[in-house]
Amino acid sequence: MGRLFLGIDVSTTGAKALLVDEKGTVVAAATTPLTLSTPRPLWSEQDPHEWWSGVTRSIQAALAQARVGGGDVAAVGLTGQMHGLVLLDDDQRVLRPAILWNDQRTGVQCDEIRARMGGRARLVQVTGNDALTGFTAPKILWVRENEPDVYARARRVLLPKDYVRLRLTGEAAMDKADGSGTLLFDLAARDWSAEVLRALDIPRAWLPPTHEGPEVTGAITAAAAAATGLREGTPVMAGGGDQAAGAVGAGAIAPGVVSLTLGTSGVVFATTDAALVEPEGRLHAFCHAVPGKWHLMGVTLSAAGSLQWYRDTLAPGESFEALVAEAASAPAGSEGLIFLPYLSGERTPYPDPLARGAFVGLTVRHRRAHLTRAVLEGVAFSMKDCMGLFAQAGLASVKQVRVAGGGARSALWREILASVLGAELVTVNSTEGAAYGAALLAGVGASARKDVASACGAAIARIIGRCIPR
Ligand code: XUL
Repeated sequence: MGRLFLGIDVSTTGAKALLVDEKGTVVAAATTPLTLSTPRPLWSEQDPHEWWSGVTRSIQAALAQARVGGGDVAAVGLTGQMHGLVLLDDDQRVLRPAILWNDQRTGVQCDEIRARMGGRARLVQVTGNDALTGFTAPKILWVRENEPDVYARARRVLLPKDYVRLRLTGEAAMDKADGSGTLLFDLAARDWSAEVLRALDIPRAWLPPTHEGPEVTGAITAAAAAATGLREGTPVMAGGGDQAAGAVGAGAIAPGVVSLTLGTSGVVFATTDAALVEPEGRLHAFCHAVPGKWHLMGVTLSAAGSLQWYRDTLAPGESFEALVAEAASAPAGSEGLIFLPYLSGERTPYPDPLARGAFVGLTVRHRRAHLTRAVLEGVAFSMKDCMGLFAQAGLASVKQVRVAGGGARSALWREILASVLGAELVTVNSTEGAAYGAALLAGVGASARKDVASACGAAIARIIGRCIPR
């Protein structure tokens, strides 16, 4: 048997393959960029075939980089962008481009789902969540109402990484973390909700069986072995949606440790021992990739994405490092200048696709340093808004925030976050995110470690940075 574990991340921007050894050391990483299509305003789509070709290319590149063969890989774990709708026909052919997590076309269908469930309260009670445009269920209704020919041929609903799983193993299967992000799950029961499926008139047979993160969902087929270089028969574990797998990758798997990711979007993620929900559904409540655990999550859609937009629009050609260094010269509070980061609408705590960004309070005294600092502060306050809802969902106090993602590389942004959140902020030695978590889950499934906690304990032992609130 091999000694390496392969984590595959089907993200929005790239298909990543990460090889990790038994000690948790990364031995190779390869990413193939993916293209995003926005055929109309507010739409966001990708071609599932491109995920597959990107994944095959990245696996081959990672094996070559590590100078190993497929026989050296003991198990594979999958992760990827959540919520995207992949519709297949009877012959498992893709019926239309996948509709992604950041697509905003389904406002009407979200209202319809609340009505069909007899109101938001019952929907939140069963699924843990309010209907949001990004989730999968409203997309299924949108296709039914707008593309009836496609809907008539549909026989299977999958999520992005699970389409790749199908191509790797021939099996339609899903993990529980991603399943709970469809809005078709009974959160407490950790499986499909008969009540929601009945109310939305979606056939149960279209949905695959769901598994806990480290469980085996199938094995590499001969065709997939030929396409990737992996060994036929290598087990493929369930893994988890990117947020849950990312939390495993950062070791944020116990209540009290919150993971905060400053990527394009900003996410605060808290593990829970029970299926807690925020009564109005303003936080996402999903199953964790850790068996028998759940998590609460708040999402600011434009976090590092706000800084990217700001740089590209107002300071093109400037490096992020130079801009942020300049921002350090402006005082805390940016002398009254406020930035609202709702550049792509918002999810938490204002679930509104029509929310918009703003600079408020500009005076002639403000220089570019103030504007940049206001962007960093505005995002930090939006993350605080998200974390403020944890208490309302019954979550006990937050002991530590583990920060990761591109934005977390900025020391100034980390300092601002620590003082705005009033919590200790730490960075840990694992920085490969969701793919790393998927590889750890594969290791647990292959019995290299007893459980997810011991896998994380062995691999993510070191705190490398610490910010105390001022
Ligand atoms: C989570 C979410 C995003 C996507 C994209 O709810 O929508 O994290 O998974 O990566």
